[in-house]
Amino acid sequence: MLMAVLVVLLVLLLTKAGFSQSNDRDDNKNVPIAVFCGTNAVISVPNFIKNRNSTYNDLRMQILSQRVLYARAQALSAGDSVFAAAQCRNYLSVDQCVACFDAGVSELVNCTSGNGASVSFDNCFLRYEDFADFYNNPYVSEDANITPNVLCGDQSASQPTVFNQVVDGFLSDLKDATPKTSNFFVASKRQIAGGNATVYVTAQCIANINQATCQTCMDRAYDKLNDCLPNREGRFF
Ligand SMILES: *[C@@H]1O[C@H](CO)[C@@H](O)[C@H](O)[C@H]1NC(C)=O
Ligand SMILES: *[C@@H]1O[C@H](CO)[C@@H](O)[C@H](O)[C@H]1NC(C)=O
Ligand SMILES: *[C@@H]1O[C@H](CO)[C@@H](O)[C@H](O)[C@H]1NC(C)=O
Repeated sequence: MLMAVLVVLLVLLLTKAGFSQSNDRDDNKNVPIAVFCGTNAVISVPNFIKNRNSTYNDLRMQILSQRVLYARAQALSAGDSVFAAAQCRNYLSVDQCVACFDAGVSELVNCTSGNGASVSFDNCFLRYEDFADFYNNPYVSEDANITPNVLCGDQSASQPTVFNQVVDGFLSDLKDATPKTSNFFVASKRQIAGGNATVYVTAQCIANINQATCQTCMDRAYDKLNDCLPNREGRFF
């Protein structure tokens, strides 16, 4: 269930590049991290696609005209209702957000045999379902059996002992801090003591969920990302 996992993107990067505008794909090309096409039945494919398009247009318009980084939209006409949501990381401009959203729309174009899909990027996610419950609880699973997604890098830190120690503490602080922020978003960095490396982290919960749901996600993220150590990179969503 890539789906449930969308709750949070937690990225830790050990790089010298600024974390706020780039990712390990460095050039912001909006390469998808994970794509999920659901299996809930569609009654009329043309009508489903029409509803889906309508939510896409609505989401895009909200991002652009209201200058927001999170939007929801629904289209209920003639059955095959579509409930959609998109969110960008807080460090993006509106233009960058729209670019990521558009990449998401393209990525899901062929998900037409079921009503429900999601795509995750470092910079944003886009999700739609034939139910609205996921707005308040991203973990709800009324579609395929979606499970949290963890992606570990494949390069080990050069000083694993101190790296593990610093990153474990960093992730622990992040897990406690993120649900307490007003926008459920933290971006931070920390030096590896005695070394010349810096670790960068970003954490974000979906807008408008409650603090407890954000905390649940962060707790899972902390556990799962610890398993990535001493890899220099990890993502949980
Ligand atoms: C939905 O949008 C796509 C891409 O913009 C377009 O090709 C297609 O014709 C639209 N479908 C409907 C039913 O509006
Ligand atoms: C969608 O399907 C078309 C036709 O098979 C294919 O060319 C295209 O690459 C697919 N797009 C994605 C994002 O998978
Ligand atoms: C610091 O970086 C230099 C060059 O990358 C490397 O040779 C050196 O071993 C590093 N020092 C430590 C303590 O990791």
